[in-house]
Amino acid sequence: MNPPKILHIDATLVDKTIAHWNAGELVAMPTETVYGLGADATNGEAVAKIYSVKSRPQFNPLIVHVATIEIAQRYVEWTSIALGLAKAFWPGPMTLVLKRRANCPITELVSAGGDTIAIRIPAHPVAQQLLTAWGGAIAAPSANRSGRVSPTTAEHVRDEFGTAIPIIDGGACEVGLESTVIDATGDAPIVLRPGSITRAMVEKALGIPCASSAPTAGTQRSPGQLESHYAPSIPVRLNATSAEETEALLAFGPNVPTGAGTTLNLSPTGNMLEAAANLFAYLRALDNGYHSCIAVMPIPTEGIGEAINDRLKRAAA
Ligand code: TXA
Ligand code: MG
Repeated sequence: MNPPKILHIDATLVDKTIAHWNAGELVAMPTETVYGLGADATNGEAVAKIYSVKSRPQFNPLIVHVATIEIAQRYVEWTSIALGLAKAFWPGPMTLVLKRRANCPITELVSAGGDTIAIRIPAHPVAQQLLTAWGGAIAAPSANRSGRVSPTTAEHVRDEFGTAIPIIDGGACEVGLESTVIDATGDAPIVLRPGSITRAMVEKALGIPCASSAPTAGTQRSPGQLESHYAPSIPVRLNATSAEETEALLAFGPNVPTGAGTTLNLSPTGNMLEAAANLFAYLRALDNGYHSCIAVMPIPTEGIGEAINDRLKRAAA
């Protein structure tokens, strides 16, 4: 598969896409809403590449794409409203936010450290073909750089990323607007992001009213306001160059001070993608009730380091 070329789907291309995903690489694919930047949702470093390529200054949670309800049920706790909505609107432009199952293999980076996953079954035939062949979960945010509009043609994606990523052409997206995101964890649905599946359609399909949890009715909860982010229960001390026995040390790079009660190294070789992939799992592991504080070594701020430092600053605030 040679980027810059925009690729048209056939059997060899399905195989090549699967091979790229297996190798932890990104492939942009069409869906009926907008083009997505896809990676193996269970591979932390592959998902870290998504944030890196999009130049997202923060870790916002990503949408996971699957081929069937049965596959979705492997990853998330199912609810009766999820079933009702899935039957009414899948495959289609609707995303359900549901609780992660225990031992869910999807990387915590997809959830940005939270305990939920946003999941959907796209209707686009090319997406269906790729996801069926994959058989698991593909994390795919809209295939645009952070702060820019979502792409609805393969050419738009090429304008965003140039030659960096293979792009599969599925024509112009039929819906052209990102999916409706619905919190389906509770007894009543909550529309978190409006889309072409409207609140009225949701209420009609379920026969119950939507609950409103938006700070102001009708406004979208912006990703930065999501409460789902993991917050450690003990203080976080940044830019640590030493650590005490009562402290846990979140280390980075080859030169690690000794003396901490427990040390976990985000990346002994100083690889930023590896560090991003380990961030949420290691914060959680160190927040285990045995330490007074999590001391964090300095982490470079370039590239995906900006998102890592943003998350750590918020954990320390
Ligand atoms: O139509 C779409 O949804 C497209 C195509 C590619 O599927 N994807 C998309 O992804 O728009 P993205 O990453 O650009 O937007 C994801 C939205 C964000 O607003 C994010 O905050 C929300 O979904 N989201 C993702 N995971 C969430 C979660 N666990 N809880 C709440 N909101 C979540
Ligand atoms: Mg987006």
